[in-house]
Formats: sequence, structure tokens, C-alpha cells
Amino acid sequence: MQKRLLGDTTVSAIGLGCMGMSQAYGVQDEKDSVEALHRAVELGITFFDTAEVYGPYRNEILLGKALKSCRDQVTIATKFGFTFNPQRTDFGEITGTNGHPDNARAVAEASLKRLQTDVIDLFYLHRVDPAVPVEETVGAMAELVKEGKVRMIGLSEVSAATLRKAHAIHPISALQSEYSLWTRDVETNGVLETCQQLGIAFVPFSPLGRGFLTGTVSSSAGLQDDDFRKSLPRFQPENAAINQQYLDILATIAASKGCTSAQVALAWVLAQGDNIIPIPGAKRIPYIEQNIAATSLLLSREERETLEKAFRPENIAGSRYPEVFEKMAAG
Ligand SMILES: NC(=O)c1ccc[n+]([C@@H]2O[C@H](COP(=O)([O-])OP(=O)(O)OC[C@H]3O[C@@H](n4cnc5c(N)ncnc54)[C@H](OP(=O)(O)O)[C@@H]3O)[C@@H](O)[C@H]2O)c1
Repeated sequence: MQKRLLGDTTVSAIGLGCMGMSQAYGVQDEKDSVEALHRAVELGITFFDTAEVYGPYRNEILLGKALKSCRDQVTIATKFGFTFNPQRTDFGEITGTNGHPDNARAVAEASLKRLQTDVIDLFYLHRVDPAVPVEETVGAMAELVKEGKVRMIGLSEVSAATLRKAHAIHPISALQSEYSLWTRDVETNGVLETCQQLGIAFVPFSPLGRGFLTGTVSSSAGLQDDDFRKSLPRFQPENAAINQQYLDILATIAASKGCTSAQVALAWVLAQGDNIIPIPGAKRIPYIEQNIAATSLLLSREERETLEKAFRPENIAGSRYPEVFEKMAAG
């Protein structure tokens, strides 16, 4: 598998997003997830993404258990900074943000235990807390680096200006934001450019459009009631019907290359820069195998341009998040 650089660490060119193993997208099965994690390691994935809030807690516990035997081969990223109702297992549990220094420390210490490790390789602030200057939060994260509890610091869903402020306090190794054919804000809001200028790895989350770009999920109709996509504007039937037409273009390119739409969607993200390390989420072994194969799929310039024209931001119907989550992502 090809490799890319994240801070001082070389990782596989794609990581594995593990959120779906504990919440958000349909049925979860712990035994299957452990097998999927082991298969991912066997196939060369060395970068795993989790968060305190996934489950909540259950996803970190799952990774701790499954990756214990190969801990020295893998880079584990986790995140803190949401407040939530721990009794609930869906996204309805999220109540706000907490970027206070005390919370950074408390969560890091609890995450270390759940992950069964001595050090968190990459510790992200999941969302900036508007009530706490980012410098203060990152200052607290930097203390954890000094103490050896965290190796690298990351941010998620922040503006270019916030990224620069934070990077001045302590080097930021990775910025994680949504980026895929149908979510391309980071191309125009200065985030991708700033990451390149500052030598920061850019980690696209939901690179498969939460499954939509794979052609296997057509709309919110038919999804389980607790599936997070039920609440997303782009998945509502009227918007999904419009967005569906661009999938046909993706499928045509995939058919001409003898691969799947998911692989073309991932190859497109990977082609956007050498500092880009997408973390497609998958809990099934065949999907993981397919996504790994996408790292060696090359798209021609003409194919990329056809996709970019079809998926122009103004063509996409519906916002990526409901309003309450959009606001939290404006850091
Ligand atoms: N920082 C943040 O705020 C944030 C937000 C969202 C996500 N994330 C992270 O990013 C990771 C990835 O994002 P995501 O999971 O939201 O979305 P995604 O990667 O765009 O899509 C995941 C969905 O695609 C399906 N899938 C994966 N590979 C496939 C393939 N080859 N063919 C067909 N379907 C396929 C998965 O199915 P199965 O589930 O059935 O395997 C799942 O339903 C998450 O796991 C999480 O770690 C971070």
C-alpha cells in the first residue's frame, strides 16, 4: 500500500474511519468489526480514526481491544471536544462543545484507558468551542504532548484563520474536515491551501459522501430510524433524486475502468494532493479491500475534470448537515 506523511509519521495512504462500527450507519456487530479491523491491519492500513463521542466511548473501547496486539504497527487518532448525553447512542446525544483545558486533559486520560495504550498518536479537537479561545485549548493539548500522553495534535472542521492561530501555539500535524466530490468547501475557503503552506496533513472525513457516492444508499427512505443519514438534508428523497443524476456519471467512469463508484470517488480525493489522507468508513471486509485497491487507481485529467464539472458545489441539492451541526462546524 502507498504511504503518506502525517506529522513525523508515515501512514497508509488511506486510513480506516471506525465511527460506523459503533454508531450512525445501520446495524453494528462487534465481532465482525474486530475481524474487519484485523483484516485492515493485515492489508496494510496503519491509520485508524475514532473519537470519545463515537458510541459514545464504545468505539474507542473496540479499537483498544482489537488493536492491542498490533499497537506498535498502527497510528491511532481520537478526538475530544463535544459534550453529549452518555445514555444515548445516536447523534441526538450531542449537546454542544467543551474546549476547556480541564476537559482536554480529562478526556485524554480516559481515552488512554479505553484505547489500552500509553500514548494517543494523534489527538484532535473535534470542534472548536466558541466559549474558549482556540489558543487556550491547543495550549492544553500541547501540555499533554510535553507529558508524553499525546504525540501529535490535530483539529477538525476549523477555518484557515483558526488553523493558523492554533499552529502558532503548537505545530498542528493534521486537519480533519469533510471533503469529497459532493463537499468541496475546503477547496475555496483557504483550508486546503493553508494545510499545504504549513505542511499539515489534510484528512478528509466522509470521503464517500457517507455512502451516497458509492451508489449503494440512494436516499433516507429505507434507512433505519436511528441512521444518522435520516437527518441529513442531502439524503432527503427530493434532494437525493437530484443528486442521483451525478452518480450516473461516476458509475459510467467506474464501468469504463472496471472498478466501483466508491473506488473512483476515493481515487479522486487521493489525487487532490500528496498531503491528503482520506479515512473512508467501512465495517465490512469487502468494502475495506475495495477501498484499499483504490489507492492504486489513477484517474486521467479528463476523468477528473468530468467529475468536477458534474459535482460542482452549486449542483448539489441540500446542505451537508442540519443547521445545528452546520453551526458547530464553523470554527
Ligand atoms: N471529524 C468529524 O467531525 C467526522 C465526521 C464524520 C466522520 N468522521 C470520521 O470519518 C470516517 C469516515 O466518514 P463516514 O464514515 O462518515 O463516511 P464515508 O466514509 O463517506 O462513508 C461510509 C459509508 O460508506 C459505506 N462504504 C464504505 N466503503 C464502501 C464501498 N467500497 N462500497 C460501498 N459502500 C461503502 C460504509 O458502509 P458500511 O458501514 O456498511 O461498511 C458506510 O455506510 C468516520 O468513520 C469517522 O471516523 C469524522
